[in-house]
Amino acid sequence: MLNDLNKVVKDINLFLKKYLKKQKYSGLLSAMNYGLFPGGKKIRSKILVDVGKIFNVKYSKLIIIGAAVECIHAYSLIHDDLPCMDNDFVRRGKPSTHVKFGEATAVLAGNSLLTLAFEILSNKKLNLKEKTKNILISKLSSYSGHTGIAGGQFLDLDFENQKVPLKKIVDMQLKKTGKLFAYCCSVPAIINNNDIKKINTFEKIGYDIGLLFQIADDLIDHRGDAKKAGKKTKKDKKFGKATLISLLGYKKTVIYSKKLRIKIQKKISKYGWRSKNLNETINYILNRNK
Ligand code: IPE
Ligand code: IPE
Ligand code: MG
Ligand code: MG
Ligand code: MG
Repeated sequence: MLNDLNKVVKDINLFLKKYLKKQKYSGLLSAMNYGLFPGGKKIRSKILVDVGKIFNVKYSKLIIIGAAVECIHAYSLIHDDLPCMDNDFVRRGKPSTHVKFGEATAVLAGNSLLTLAFEILSNKKLNLKEKTKNILISKLSSYSGHTGIAGGQFLDLDFENQKVPLKKIVDMQLKKTGKLFAYCCSVPAIINNNDIKKINTFEKIGYDIGLLFQIADDLIDHRGDAKKAGKKTKKDKKFGKATLISLLGYKKTVIYSKKLRIKIQKKISKYGWRSKNLNETINYILNRNK
């Protein structure tokens, strides 16, 4: 098991549980809670904490930002499972949100988690300079929208049953998955000193980690155990999803992913002992079975 991951999971869940408890009542709250808890590796928050260590950013701040990121991620999963998208009935080892609450409620609970993320970032509990906060909010909104996650999800569906070249598959995966990882990797650099060179370096590392994460997810879909994964496997082939596996085959995709992992680890090795945790997280991303 990964060092410190359990602590991140615990702290993120605690923050989000308290935050949701303080919300005014609405008929959507139980579906929102269901989409958030239990389950979820909180790997994006772990990366935020790992990179935060390199840039000396206070842990409590990273937990608040991680909570916002996890709300966006949970929203994207609720919508990803809808019949109009991947039509998946199981998520995180339990019935998908729309299976449990109905489609309309799932769409609205997803929307509400998306906006909740920005509420969390703009809350005064997150003690950062106004200017920094603005950058964090603006970046997360553009990374979630039509040029980010939503745009990537559009391409993912658009590419179904088509022969798509490698560059386009990678571009789609960088949008649907890479964006949140790029966010998590660049935010600590933004908070630390806003040195544009470092921000760009870590942004790029984040995109690579996100791509690695999505390739690993595709490998789990291809070869993994549904019980362990907590979601149905062997679905990408059935739906004609454009993945590196569909283009290159399983073996070449494994080689591609190992090369990518080595490339990322080489880049972060410059940061010495401070990048140890991030290095371990990157190994975990490729070796996980869920
Ligand atoms: C699944 O993400 C969706 C992808 C981007 C591949 P995770 O594998 O991080 O999902 P949880 O949060 O652990 O359930
Ligand atoms: C989803 O990718 C990426 C998102 C942004 C939600 P997948 O469709 O491969 O994720 P899983 O396999 O359903 O978790
Ligand atoms: Mg999908
Ligand atoms: Mg899916
Ligand atoms: Mg998948």
